[in-house]
Amino acid sequence: MSDKKPTKTWRPRTNLVRGGTMRSQFGETSEAIFLTSGFVYDSAEQAKASFKGEDDHFIYSRYSNPSVAMFEERMRLLEGTKFCQATASGMGAVFAALMCQLKAGDHLVASRALFGSCDYICTVLAPQYGVRTTMVDGTDLNQWEKALSQPTDMVFMETPSNPTMEIIDLEAVAKMAHKAGARVVVDNVFATPYLQRPIELGADIVVYSSTKHIDGQGRSLGGAILFNDEEYWDKYLRMFIRHTGPTLSAFNAWVQLKGMETLELRVTRHCENALAVAQFLEGHKGIGRVIFPGLDSHPQRALIKKQMQGPGSVIAFEVMGDEARVFKFMNAMNLIDISNNLGDAKSLMTHPATTTHQRTGPEGRAKLGITDQLVRLSIGLEDVEDIKEDLEQALNA
Ligand SMILES: Cc1ncc(COP(=O)(O)O)c(C=O)c1O
Repeated sequence: MSDKKPTKTWRPRTNLVRGGTMRSQFGETSEAIFLTSGFVYDSAEQAKASFKGEDDHFIYSRYSNPSVAMFEERMRLLEGTKFCQATASGMGAVFAALMCQLKAGDHLVASRALFGSCDYICTVLAPQYGVRTTMVDGTDLNQWEKALSQPTDMVFMETPSNPTMEIIDLEAVAKMAHKAGARVVVDNVFATPYLQRPIELGADIVVYSSTKHIDGQGRSLGGAILFNDEEYWDKYLRMFIRHTGPTLSAFNAWVQLKGMETLELRVTRHCENALAVAQFLEGHKGIGRVIFPGLDSHPQRALIKKQMQGPGSVIAFEVMGDEARVFKFMNAMNLIDISNNLGDAKSLMTHPATTTHQRTGPEGRAKLGITDQLVRLSIGLEDVEDIKEDLEQALNA
């Protein structure tokens, strides 16, 4: 393979299109898909040296694969970290990032406004392995301070959170977490690498579901873990991934490499469309609360301006009436699809109380502000006038 190295450091937009490309002897323009489980050695000596780590020959696709390595390198350049480990899904990334290090007796502090599966890892799985978990209201620095007044091993948070768009002061929490001895893991899915830079704000590890904006066209699952910490890689993550196997497939890595080429263009359009739709919904007669980081009405607008470079693509809002009325509104949609995915080119709507946060239970949902009226809308790349017209006709249905 001819590894085309940049002659100088490329700018981020160039890296999105060319970063990490390893061209084979066939000179293909598009990156190749290496659909192979294993690799052939020139000799038994080379196999031995590869297993000893003295030769960087690929060994087995559970460890690494050329297509996956290209995806990892492009993600690494985008995030600006030393390391990137791709995973089979966003949840694979969250689980590996936390559980590669945590052990019985350790203390994990996490924000309580989490995606349902992230909450399951923190509140069910981690305690099952003997990890003590403290859940806090992520918007309340006093709660973080109290929880982090005792020695802590890891901190996990999602900001903006799914689906109520709570914002956590990354800089302030990272400082407290480091004092308590913890590594800080941030799920940056809603913000994307474009709209928020957690490592620059003090986080140690950033995780993505690349299923969302990085694929961006609803085709494949994937995830990534990014960080600078060599000890974390050598002592924990490398061996955890090798021996438990949550690896990204070469095909999905290739799909997502292609997705990255248009990531910035898409995220820019997502943000423009989402702001226009949020403004349309705010003050509409059939709509209650509208939560969107780009609206001045968001209670944490000052913090959003300080730590985010854009509002993202997801809006949460309440439809006046009971569950039946909300379902009638959703069922009346002609263009917007009912689906629990997000970050897609297609606009997608879900009812968190009965889908992504069903397991949370009525009490848990009440604490998180997830009412039966709340709808989550992931704004796509369609003409924004068509999106607004669809919402208008469904509200009148
Ligand atoms: C904030 C957040 N984290 C993680 C995930 C999990 O990603 P995946 O579905 O790729 O496992 C999701 C999925 O919706 C999410 O919204």
